[in-house]
Amino acid sequence: MADAELGKRDLDLDFDLDKKLERLGVPVGSGSKGLKAEAEPIDAGTGASAEDKDYKLGPDEIGRVAIREELFISTDEHCIEVYIPEEKRDEVAVGQYVVIPLGYREEKLFAFIKKLSYRKRDALDDMSEVHVLVSADQVGEDEYIELAQLEPLSMITPDGRTLEVRYIPKPNSLVRRVQSKQEVILGLDLPQDGLFLGYVAVNGEPIRFQGDLKVPYYLLNDARKTGDPLIFTHVLIAGMSGRGKTHVAKNFLRQIVGSEYELERRGGEVRKPCLVIIDPDDEYWGLRDDPAVPPPREAIEELRSVGGKYGGVGSKLQVFAAVEAGRRYTGCDAYVEFTIPFELVRDFPYLIAGGGLNEVQYAALERLVRDFFQKTPEKDWTYKSFQRFLENDEEMQLYLNSGAVHEATLGAIRRRVLRGPFKGIFDQGANPITQLYEAIFREDSVSVFPTNHLSSEGERVVVLAILSMIADAKTKAVSTEWGRRIARYPVILAVDEAHNFLTRADTQQDRLIVEKFVAAAKQGRKNRLGLVLITQNPQDVHEGVLSQISTRILLGMEPAMAERAGAPKHFQKALPYFEKGRMVVHSPDNSKPLEIRGLDFCVVRHGR
Ligand SMILES: Nc1ncnc2c1ncn2[C@@H]1O[C@H](COP(=O)(O)OP(=O)(O)OP(=O)(O)O)[C@@H](O)[C@H]1O
Ligand SMILES: [Mg+2]
Repeated sequence: MADAELGKRDLDLDFDLDKKLERLGVPVGSGSKGLKAEAEPIDAGTGASAEDKDYKLGPDEIGRVAIREELFISTDEHCIEVYIPEEKRDEVAVGQYVVIPLGYREEKLFAFIKKLSYRKRDALDDMSEVHVLVSADQVGEDEYIELAQLEPLSMITPDGRTLEVRYIPKPNSLVRRVQSKQEVILGLDLPQDGLFLGYVAVNGEPIRFQGDLKVPYYLLNDARKTGDPLIFTHVLIAGMSGRGKTHVAKNFLRQIVGSEYELERRGGEVRKPCLVIIDPDDEYWGLRDDPAVPPPREAIEELRSVGGKYGGVGSKLQVFAAVEAGRRYTGCDAYVEFTIPFELVRDFPYLIAGGGLNEVQYAALERLVRDFFQKTPEKDWTYKSFQRFLENDEEMQLYLNSGAVHEATLGAIRRRVLRGPFKGIFDQGANPITQLYEAIFREDSVSVFPTNHLSSEGERVVVLAILSMIADAKTKAVSTEWGRRIARYPVILAVDEAHNFLTRADTQQDRLIVEKFVAAAKQGRKNRLGLVLITQNPQDVHEGVLSQISTRILLGMEPAMAERAGAPKHFQKALPYFEKGRMVVHSPDNSKPLEIRGLDFCVVRHGR
């Protein structure tokens, strides 16, 4: 840039901002006081005005609002750009939270840096005077000027309320970093207590304020204060394999134990929840014990100081291992064996259908199942006698003759039901789940169902039986004793590897299960059923189920998966780079979407 140009700029420092802006077609604040007079009483120290002779930015200030083409806010789109002087270039990064005191009003705008760019100096010269304000010799990199584009999130009022973005910052306003925990809490609209999930973070690092103060992130959990606990509008924990889903899930579930929830349906009774955990990798019994290698004492103290819970739940936890012929559970040292009684097929015929039957075949199977249970005395409601029923040619002939069941259909059903591994799955011993229900569904308890010792068919039957019992008891007035029992407590149902069980329905059976689940999820708030679905394949979880989930905790994942899991757009590109412990929380009823850093240790035992 020519010296003459620079000289001209220096002279320009005495310009009248309002006039200049008017000339540029930019709306200015009422009156002609300029920014300074109004800004000072509100934000002394940072509200340096355009008329200030000292243009140096303070330590927390990063730049001034610029106008490249237009400065605007609207109901859907915003364009707020900030000129970043050279001296601040090292300090700004995409994702950071910033505040712009409006000056002409008392509110502050809260935003994050969405984009950083370099622009040809000339392009900026035409529209804005902002470079002058920061003094020309600081611009550097002669030809280019750095701009930050902001995404405004909210407005903070002086009396500590959070509003939607409704007032525009004036050109040249100072932009600074967030300065206090309170600003972050208000700007992001964070709950001040609840289930602890981690610390508000930017680019992997917790935001820290004076005295190393971090900002804890909680999920609303107290109906008395804030409407419904968000656990009952369901939680998804998704991320690529090995990114720490189970670690996060255990830390999160541990926080839930001991919470108290009001039961809307039962005259406002207050109860502690029963956690039921579907555990395909035999990892969750670790919730019983303290970590094998404890974290440093300070870490535990820090966690407790923000209301986080630490340590195993002890005897509140019980492991229930399903029995399957020829297989043995060898995980936790203490466990209770149980079996799925065939009588549950009366309520849930898909338990013996598997994935192999088409719609017509499934309808015929339902009919046969219904007739079997009607004809058969209760003591014979076993897989064995159903087998005999299906093998009874005379009996089956009636169906064929009447045309109720086609011969080929019967063949398919027989192949599926008789030759499958069901013989070793149903009715295995003395502890049917329908009698064990009092041990499983207890107040203030954790019931863990490991399944990796089972065959894949065994796992399917066991998991679907448990899911179906809970979903039914929480949607209709189930007349069985287990149904009434389940209805009595708040139930938090956590399903790890959920994509295996709530799949995108392509068979009739899957559709039925998903429908049941969507119905249960929809009424979760009223009936106190909270789902925590954990998956590395959200794309394989049925949309109907996903759409019922209001809180998404997203760990490292590919962009396509991020989109499918409902990640906010501005995080989708960054999520693949998220290492263990970094996550995005998207929970519209809880806060603005944001990044948090989870604990780098598990609060209970994880791994052997
Ligand atoms: N935030 C963290 N800090 C330190 N270590 C972690 C963190 N998160 C997870 N780990 C460790 O990384 C390993 C994998 O974590 P975890 O089992 O939770 O992953 P996952 O996503 O559930 O994996 P998978 O897809 O196999 O189920 C574990 O040993 C766990 O202890
Ligand atoms: Mg896992």
